[in-house]
This record gives sequence, structure tokens and C-alpha cells, in this order.
Amino acid sequence: MSNVLAYIEQHHAAHIEELKDFLRIPSVSTAPEHKQDVLRCAEWVASSMKSVGLENVQIFPTEGHPVVYGENLQAGKNAPTVLFYGHYDVQPVDPLHLWTSKPFEPTIRDGKIFARGAVDDKGQVFMQLKSLEAHLKTNGKLPVNVKVLIEGEEEIGSVNLEAFLRKNASMLAADTVLISDTAMFADEVPSLCYGLRGLCYMEMTVTGPNRDLHSGVFGGAVANPGNALANIIAHLTDEYGRITIPGFYDDVLALTPEEREQYRNLPHDESAYCRDLNIPATDGEFGYSTLEKTSARPTLDVNGIWGGFMGEGAKTVLPSKASAKVSMRLVPNQDPQDIARKFEAYVRRIAPPTVHIEVTELHGGRPAITPTDSKGVRAALCAMERAFGKKPFLTREGGSIPIVLLFQTILNAPVVLMGMGLNSENLHSPDEHFTLKNFYRGIIASALFYEELTKA
Ligand code: BES
Ligand code: MN
Ligand code: MN
Repeated sequence: MSNVLAYIEQHHAAHIEELKDFLRIPSVSTAPEHKQDVLRCAEWVASSMKSVGLENVQIFPTEGHPVVYGENLQAGKNAPTVLFYGHYDVQPVDPLHLWTSKPFEPTIRDGKIFARGAVDDKGQVFMQLKSLEAHLKTNGKLPVNVKVLIEGEEEIGSVNLEAFLRKNASMLAADTVLISDTAMFADEVPSLCYGLRGLCYMEMTVTGPNRDLHSGVFGGAVANPGNALANIIAHLTDEYGRITIPGFYDDVLALTPEEREQYRNLPHDESAYCRDLNIPATDGEFGYSTLEKTSARPTLDVNGIWGGFMGEGAKTVLPSKASAKVSMRLVPNQDPQDIARKFEAYVRRIAPPTVHIEVTELHGGRPAITPTDSKGVRAALCAMERAFGKKPFLTREGGSIPIVLLFQTILNAPVVLMGMGLNSENLHSPDEHFTLKNFYRGIIASALFYEELTKA
């Protein structure tokens, strides 16, 4: 193993340069104008997999963006098989003017690499590829069988991956699924994640009159879609921070006393949290702590709201339309489709009869809990402890990785969420970055994971 670790150390500078090439490709999956870039990124991933020493590397087209697959099964039938999953697509970059350096011109400042996708998820995918490379280039083989699946639609809800999984279940069969697309609890506080929230993302448009009107001439008798929309949104939550959609909490799995105890043991500093975000106080559901509210309780957020006159200055208009994007983070065992139906029914019920309303579901993802006693988790705990010098905590996180539950149900393989990101690294925001020290230790932890798995 020492030669593997020496390889990682000796190639650190080269690995960073290669990562920069990956980060230069603007693989924004939601943007039609980047379709070719997303494809180019898939090709980049495929050639990187080949140079690492993976075999049978293929780019699978889907209805949307392609899936890239590669494997190395030389460890043989008696050795365990790991399926590593990650994504090469990234979120949009706007607002562009808030970036210190350009999002697709990776720049290192203060030991961190800044670029869209640096931590979510290109940096972490690359970390995994380099750990395989370290084994393959030093020993000519891996300790276990490894399959690698990198998709291009995670940031848009992994819409085509479920069908791919069902169709290729035998090619993807594994004893453990490994994912590096989550965060550690804090810098120097390593953790493994065992729970993710799901998502139900809706858009609604309220239409009043068939055209924009003079608010002096018509205001008072004609319903204003802006007012109506604001009213609807105001009625989606109550004064205790609870969501008022009937049946919304029906399937929510309650936190166990043991989990609540674990949450209390995590080093969370509420006033530092508020200071960092420049908020006067935290908000949300009555009776739960900040960490519980952001990972084990469902939420409802307006992601965008628009309509009427949005330019500078004043225009006295009674707009014809107003719209909002509203998403709900879900927890086990809520079902995104069931929640979408309940949302729509409730919104239609509370909308005033003086307007038209259109409600559509944009995308969703299932929440997941992963087992904490699997061989994979035991191996990951050891690997993290060896790489970071501290025993990792077990945490749940608020973000979503839609395919996690389906790995467990379709492939029947326990998932291990071993992430090296930090929630302070601005994922989905301007100045996204990845701390290079964690990128480096992440390569080591991943290399050790494969070794530990042979003992687990
Ligand atoms: N890597 C994130 C999910 C994540 C972030 C997990 C932080 C744990 C901590 C992933 O790329 C992501 O952003 N997912 C989307 C999913 C959605 C588009 C269906 C999300 O959570 O918004
Ligand atoms: Mn991600
Ligand atoms: Mn993301």
C-alpha cells in the first residue's frame, strides 16, 4: 500500500493540472446551448477512464445526456465488486458577475481550486479516478473489482438514469455502491453521510386578465396575479414553520431518539452559523434543531418568483401573469409524485376563483437512508480515519442525489456516501471551490477504501 500512497504524493501536482482540464469544460446539463459541451465532457471522462487503466469504457447515449461506464474486473469472482457513481454535469453559473475568477477558468487561491464543478462533482469524481490510477499504475491491479458509472444529468434530476439502471442491471451489479458527492461535517471533521433528502420541484403560473392593464383604470376590480400568487405562497406554511399542504407529513419517518442524540453530539455553533450567513437568527420548523431541520425534516422553498414590471423605476401595471418556482425537500418515506399531487390539489383549492392557475412538476428525486452497518461503510470508516487522522461522524444531509434509493432498490446494493466536500465550498453558487488538501486526502481515503474492503 505504501507504494500506492507514494504514487499519489508524487503525482499530486499533475493530478491538479488534469483536474483543471476537466473543469474547463462547461458541462451545464440544464442549458440546451451547452449540449455539445456536455457531450465533449462525457468524451473527456471516457478518455480519462481509459488512461487510468479501466477497461470496456463506453459512452452510452440516453434520451438526454450520455452516461459513461468503465470497469476493471481483474480481481475475480471471489473478490467484492464496487460500483462507483458520480456526475460530470454541473449547475449553471449565474450570477456571473459575482465570481472572483471565471467559472470555467479554474484558478487556485489559498489552497483551493475555484471553478464551477470543483467540488460538485468533478473534483470528487476525479479524486476517485486518481485513486484507481494509483493502484493500477503501481500494482497493475485493483484490490477489488471496480465498475465506474459517471452520468451527465444529476443536476437535472437524473431523469434518464433509472431506465439505464433497469436495462443494464446485470452489467452494473455490485456488492457496494460508492459515491463521493456529499460533504464532510466541517473542515477537519470527517464524516460519512447515511441520509439524503428527496426533492419535488414545482412551477406555477397565475394568470389574471388576458393582457397587462393600467393599474389605475382596472385595479380594484380585476384580480392581480402578483397579489394572488403571493397569497397562495403565504398559505403554504404556517407560523410554526410547518407546511400546510394536507397530508404532506403523512409518510415522514420520525427521527429516532438515538438519532436526535447523535445530532446533539455534532459540533454545531449556532451563532457562528448565523454570523457566517449574516442572518439575524435561524428560521424554520418549531421544535427541531438547525441540523435536524436542514437534513431530516422536509421543507418548502420559493426558488424564484417573477411577474409584472421588473425593470428599474416604476410602471403602474396590473400584470397579466405571475409565476414562481417552488421546491420541497423530502425525507424518507415521502414520495415525490405523491407530494406533487398534494401540492397541486392544495394550490388549486386556495387559489382565488378570480384567476387561472397552471401547476407543473419540473423534476423530483427520492429521499434515501443508507445502511450504516454494511461492509462498505465499515471499510469507508476505516479509510477515512486513516486518511484524515480522526474517527468520522455519521451524518444525514439536506441535499439530494436522486439515484441513491434506486441503487438500493434496483441493484439491491447498499450505498456508501463518502464525500470530501464542505458545505461552505459554495456548491451551486458563485466562487464554487474545492479545498486541495481534501482533494488530496480524498484520493488517499478512496485508495484505502478499496484495500479495506478486502478485509471487511
Ligand atoms: N451533490 C449534490 C447533493 C448534495 C449536496 C448532497 C450537498 C449532500 C450535500 C447534488 O449534485 C445536487 O446538487 N443535487 C440536486 C438534486 C436535484 C437537482 C434533483 C440538489 O440537491 O438540489
Ligand atoms: Mn453533486
Ligand atoms: Mn449539485
